[in-house]
Amino acid sequence: MGEPKDVSVQQGSVQSDPSISVEIVEDGPYRVRGALPLHTQEIVRNEEGRSWSYRQGRAYPVKDGTMLCRCGHSRKKPFCDGSHKTAGVDLAETASFEPMLQEAEEIDGPRYSLTDNERYCAFARFCDNGQRIWNEVRIEGEEHARLAIYMAHQCPAGRLLVWDRSTGNPVEEPLTASLSLIQDPGAGVSGPLVLRGGVRVQSASGESYEVRNRQALCRCGASSNKPFCDGSHASTKFRDGLE
Ligand code: FES
Repeated sequence: MGEPKDVSVQQGSVQSDPSISVEIVEDGPYRVRGALPLHTQEIVRNEEGRSWSYRQGRAYPVKDGTMLCRCGHSRKKPFCDGSHKTAGVDLAETASFEPMLQEAEEIDGPRYSLTDNERYCAFARFCDNGQRIWNEVRIEGEEHARLAIYMAHQCPAGRLLVWDRSTGNPVEEPLTASLSLIQDPGAGVSGPLVLRGGVRVQSASGESYEVRNRQALCRCGASSNKPFCDGSHASTKFRDGLE
């Protein structure tokens, strides 16, 4: 398959090297294109026990063509072992190809605004760590603005974006391309495969999803917004056994 045309890139995001992508195999795993670093990444809690930062863990080898489990049933996670063929998990893609912001809610504050598309929530809870981002962005003052920006940047799914109202641009730093296997000890579960740095995700149909700086892909098999995570791993108590 040649280089895809007309890839849409979210404002504030920069697509990674085009030789890098993650492809959805129909009813099967994720196929990594190009060599990307892959690590477990644990959500670290603050003194109040709320999500605050990340700690990088074990590295896993990835080369061009590496297959990563998408159904949640492989015995060789994070890699695919063919279990999807008998696991009975519906892996059909259900997410929209439209830009995420099209269905996002906007919350305006004095200097910044927030866009929020709840459909992409990966239940990492950085947005509600004692203070709530939806309030912080609305309150006057540098300290509140800084906290709102920090919370948005920790959101692994890119559901939340803070915008500078004076420039009309998102407050977003393009990240280096990487893959992370989220571990969430606070909820006692494992979470999505997080793609940072504008990695293009290609549907089994050949079409590309909007390229974004932060994206969370389902690897438990339970999301209703596949290939993206919708937080269902928390209710199904998904554990990948990699901690
Ligand atoms: S990993 Fe989050 S819904 Fe599957």
